[in-house]
Amino acid sequence: MSISKRIILAISGASGMAYACQLARSLGQVPGLELHGIISNGAREVFRHELDLDPQELLSCFHFLHEPANIAAPPASGSWEHSGMIVCPCSMASLAAIATGVGTNLLHRAADVTLKERRPLILVPRETPLSEIHLRNMLRAHRAGAVIMPPCPGFYHRPGSIDQLVAQFAGRILEQLGLPHDLYTRWS
Ligand SMILES: Cc1cc2nc3c(=O)[nH]c(=O)nc-3n(C[C@H](O)[C@H](O)[C@H](O)COP(=O)(O)O)c2cc1C
Repeated sequence: MSISKRIILAISGASGMAYACQLARSLGQVPGLELHGIISNGAREVFRHELDLDPQELLSCFHFLHEPANIAAPPASGSWEHSGMIVCPCSMASLAAIATGVGTNLLHRAADVTLKERRPLILVPRETPLSEIHLRNMLRAHRAGAVIMPPCPGFYHRPGSIDQLVAQFAGRILEQLGLPHDLYTRWS
């Protein structure tokens, strides 16, 4: 397989694991795309609460999985090229670390590197209601170059199920990276 794109999908410990699973499945099937995963310990905990899914099914979508503690893994270096990073869902803790550049794990470091290298960084921050701290961190990350995409699916395509809602929003994220998908019918 010739690699034309590498994408990092990072999953942190906020609610919304269904989005992460949909993204992993879709990205794992894009021809020529090498999918790298970073899954925080918090994400593993939330996953257990939210889904009756064997975690192995999620893990098998990735071509490479990196331990959050391994700050020597390839995504920690700017000289390792990739086409974009998605943090979905993005916890307020990870958002804060990314917005302030004080992250201590691989997820935060990879996002920091993605910003400094001016590569696409999509954050899907999930919390409600939002405090001033959360809002300021989102603005800070946006100003540093991140795309802030709170998981707010549209209803105008009349989703008939949660799966359809999730697929539509996952499709919107893939569009940000110029990736093909058939997750929903785009407005025309
Ligand atoms: C079931 C569950 C749901 C959670 N949902 C959220 C959430 O929606 N947003 C958030 O910011 N934190 C949420 N948390 C808290 C984070 O998981 C926690 O702050 C964690 O330390 C985040 O670290 P991480 O970003 O490294 O995964 C949740 C925790 C649990 C156990």
